[in-house]
Amino acid sequence: MTETTAKANFAKRVFSGIKPSGGLQLGNYLGAIKRFVQTQDQGEFETTLYCIVDLHAITVWQDPADLREATYEVTAGYLAAGIDPEKSILFNQSRVPAHAELGWIFNCVARVGWMNRMTQFKEKAGSGAEKQSLGLYAYPSLMAADILLYHATHVPVGEDQKQHVELTRDIANKFNHDYKVDFFPETIPVIEGPAMRIMNLRDGTKKMSKSGESDMERINMLDDADAISKKFKKARSDMEALPETAAELDHRPEAKNLVNIYAGLADLSVDQVLAQYAGEGWGKFKPALADLAVDQLAPISTEMKRLMGDRAELDRYLARGAERAREIANPILQQTYDIVGLVR
Ligand code: AMP
Ligand code: TRP
Repeated sequence: MTETTAKANFAKRVFSGIKPSGGLQLGNYLGAIKRFVQTQDQGEFETTLYCIVDLHAITVWQDPADLREATYEVTAGYLAAGIDPEKSILFNQSRVPAHAELGWIFNCVARVGWMNRMTQFKEKAGSGAEKQSLGLYAYPSLMAADILLYHATHVPVGEDQKQHVELTRDIANKFNHDYKVDFFPETIPVIEGPAMRIMNLRDGTKKMSKSGESDMERINMLDDADAISKKFKKARSDMEALPETAAELDHRPEAKNLVNIYAGLADLSVDQVLAQYAGEGWGKFKPALADLAVDQLAPISTEMKRLMGDRAELDRYLARGAERAREIANPILQQTYDIVGLVR
């Protein structure tokens, strides 16, 4: 289906998810959660759904106790950063079995050749693809199910997820085409702003992630002010001063990353940050960045810690969110079964 036949009859709905596969890091905040809150609050969308995608997390081994802990941490992170469980639907994926059910149907729509092109699988599997779980390989088809189960039209994500959202469109198009229906919408990946790809503080060519050799590579959402300051002050940079234009950062990955982080935290463009700091050295920029980060992140981590101390409260939010999610998901799954010809 082409852009010109994009269907107007779908309400503007947002879906996005985060894996509980370890603690939240700054990339999750700037690339995802902070924007989810803005999307929720700007009131442009009929429904915003934010998920803790636990079924995605177990595509690689998770210790059960750690998985539970991380599920609460991600829930607390969403809430502490400003996701309002009244305005948005906040829930964990496994509580809505329709995700797995639609995921299976999409396993039968998606082609092996499409999966073979997924760069995230290739990166994660490295040379050991044969030893990976079948779930890790099929991961993007479950992700398509997460999105299309709600007829979501907009998916805010970091840069690394673009290919998966494009695959979601391919799956929707093939389903609509094969069954001669106009049932699943075209999904738009929403990837904008300076912080769509936050890099490792020790190596500006690697993405910041929840796992990684050294804790100094990333800012964890639960880091205290001292840790945040220390990590930014020790972050790798280079010998040059800050330039006047964004283009001059293109061959300076570490410098570019630190400026992007500043811009993301301060809600400024890269040009605006450079207008303020051009000609300055790291001795001035890094402490300013550390102060800004502490300012923005400390209230969130304090609230996260409070929330994590009250599991009953978090459980109530998740149970209620799942109930609301099922109200949207179940009719869509049932219609899908009817379209496919499954007798129910
Ligand atoms: P994950 O932690 O892999 O489940 O990712 C959850 C969300 O955070 C996705 O939208 C990712 O694109 C985003 N994200 C994760 N790491 C980064 C990063 N280093 N920079 C920007 N966005 C990120
Ligand atoms: N694959 C995403 C990640 O690695 C997480 C995810 C799962 C997701 N389902 C989703 C993101 C649906 C957006 C929409 O971060």
